[in-house]
Amino acid sequence: MIYYHNNKPFIEGVSIEEIARSHVTPFYIYSQNKIEDTFKKLKRTLNAEIFYAVKANSNQAIIKLMATLGAGADVVSVGELERAIVAGVNPKKIIFEGIGKTNKDISFAISKNIRLINVESIDELQRINSIAFEQNKIIDIGIRLNPNIDGHTIDKISTGKKTDKFGIDTEKLADIFQVLETTKNVNLIGISCHVGSQLFNINVFSEIFKKMKKNAQLFIDKGHSIKHVDLGGGLGVTYQQNEKVLKLELVKSEMDKCFENVAYQLSFEPGRYLVANAGILVTSIITIKDNGGINFLITDAGMHSLIRPALYRAHHDLEAVDKSNNELIAYTVAGPICESSDIFDKDISLPKQKVGNLLIIKDTGAYGKVMASNYNSRGLPAEILVRNNAFSQIHKPLNSQELISQDTIPEWLD
Ligand SMILES: Cc1ncc(COP(=O)(O)O)c(C=O)c1O
Repeated sequence: MIYYHNNKPFIEGVSIEEIARSHVTPFYIYSQNKIEDTFKKLKRTLNAEIFYAVKANSNQAIIKLMATLGAGADVVSVGELERAIVAGVNPKKIIFEGIGKTNKDISFAISKNIRLINVESIDELQRINSIAFEQNKIIDIGIRLNPNIDGHTIDKISTGKKTDKFGIDTEKLADIFQVLETTKNVNLIGISCHVGSQLFNINVFSEIFKKMKKNAQLFIDKGHSIKHVDLGGGLGVTYQQNEKVLKLELVKSEMDKCFENVAYQLSFEPGRYLVANAGILVTSIITIKDNGGINFLITDAGMHSLIRPALYRAHHDLEAVDKSNNELIAYTVAGPICESSDIFDKDISLPKQKVGNLLIIKDTGAYGKVMASNYNSRGLPAEILVRNNAFSQIHKPLNSQELISQDTIPEWLD
């Protein structure tokens, strides 16, 4: 996504250094053309309905862009639901899931006439039914199943094993059928699953498809009119060279083999796949130091701006903007936060750097800004969207003054 012109890095037609002249680092940049190309390729290859998992990058501009491209939205909180509505997503293209829906959340979702609420427990099914009854409505629901599939991904992003907290255990289908006989204010129209992020193994997709087909049939046999079968998100994203690449065509061929002549509509709810490779985080080097023979580059971005390396040991390729020095140095790149885990990468070879130089942390369009925090009372980064030769700030950075202004000192401490 980044190319160099006269030794200066560009995204689309925009110079990254030009953005850095008018914006305080760290900041995120997203490429609109890259997102559009990725969405179109996914849609064309899978030929299924796409619900963008808003959690991956919930900036209003990104949700709006997805809606313009024809995507629906998969939301997991009332906040995300409100975001999708405000960004202009057609409510009939919004799916509301999440394992912790309060009665207030459910009432709100019902009032917005969305496509469906995906139920994640029998208790929730009963509560949705009671709330719909009180409002004298019959509302469409889906059931999120836990198909007990090991996605062969890292534990912290696995969601589809029997022992994970998500979805309803498929061994409890008999209980669901029984409850559905009494819950007259809900209308079951779909089933869904999501077994985890970063899925690459085609056998895993094949297992998901087969189990979902089998489960859809069990619901149909019980007289439910299943219109939608949602096969989840989790499409794998390549974060470094020589890493696996997910072959969408193989996913599609497994789909076709499994779902020949079915009467329901198939959908996916990807987040990461659509935005991860379309984003970068730009940071400045605050200081350079040698501790015990380790050359540290300390940057103004840290685990407060991008937590994935500290949380999951996730890898992001790093690039120095200034490559003018021929001397290569093995650097450990770390953030400014007072935590030893605040490290982006160790022993990476970069041209010798100076304080103030810019570094680019790549493939940070998903689960980057959305997981940023104010830890150590540091501000939040700006987000910038680039399209052709233009760029626009789509999220204003939050500084420490604004942060402090959200606290109140009670009068007895004054
Ligand atoms: C229910 C659900 N759907 C979709 C996704 C999107 O996953 P990914 O970003 O890996 O595509 C998630 C991610 O956690 C999820 O929990």
